[in-house]
Amino acid sequence: MAGQTDHALRGNYDNIRADFTVEQDWAAYKPAEHDLWRRLYVRQSALIPKYACDEFIDILGALDCSAGIPKFSAINPQLKAATGWQIVAVPGLLPDDAFFTHLANRRFPVTVWLRNPEEFDYIVEPDIFHDFFGHVPLLFNNMFADYLQAYGKGGVKAKGLDALDYLARLYWYTVEFGLIQTPKGLRTYGAGILSSGGELPYCIESFKPHRIKFDLLRVMQSKYKIDTFQETYFVIDSFKQLFDATAPDFTPYYQQLRERADIAANAILPGDALLEAPVAG
Ligand code: PHE
Ligand code: FE
Repeated sequence: MAGQTDHALRGNYDNIRADFTVEQDWAAYKPAEHDLWRRLYVRQSALIPKYACDEFIDILGALDCSAGIPKFSAINPQLKAATGWQIVAVPGLLPDDAFFTHLANRRFPVTVWLRNPEEFDYIVEPDIFHDFFGHVPLLFNNMFADYLQAYGKGGVKAKGLDALDYLARLYWYTVEFGLIQTPKGLRTYGAGILSSGGELPYCIESFKPHRIKFDLLRVMQSKYKIDTFQETYFVIDSFKQLFDATAPDFTPYYQQLRERADIAANAILPGDALLEAPVAG
């Protein structure tokens, strides 16, 4: 996940480079940490075939990081060959500009530390399991990889236009919590869901949340909850749709958004294209 936080960050920022990266000291991970990784991996990978999009499933299988905490230096050559992206190690959340600059240059920041066993089900800050398991597989997908780079460039620009709150919602409702319509039915591509044991089934099967067809301005107008399962998901038809919808210059969109009121996370508007409720069972 990326974004603001109001508590002290838990990573060690003492030895960061100017771009907020650090070395991944892989040898320093303890056996208990590799063990916790394996347990997280087993739980999530059991849910993935039913709830994740095929693009994610296929690459996760090929990557096969089930044995323990992955070594970034071993993944990077494969990732470079696939899409030109690279993983960079970071101590945790980054300032907006540093984060956007990495994305704009096809570098994805991955937190180096793993959660504690007590945080098996829920963690406040993104750790290596969320960042790696949730985000890295789709960096191997060309269309998604291009979207994420464009997002990074858009972030640098949005900062100059004082429009980061709008753009952050787009990240939240796509990269972190996006749903996608597929031939196999509704699936997710969002890292915040893919790394969560509870929200994977919930986002597809629960009757509670609203599922609304993706509409760029609607998304950027919508607030979101960071401490509960989402009350609304936005559904794309393809990564191409996402890429194309976000290709225009956002400057006039930000202008329009400033003239509109924010939409509550649980609201439905008359113009929303709602998906039918999930089929029980
Ligand atoms: N086209 C957007 C702009 O001009 C940049 C962007 C691309 C933002 C993709 C988000 C996602 O600001
Ligand atoms: Fe994330």
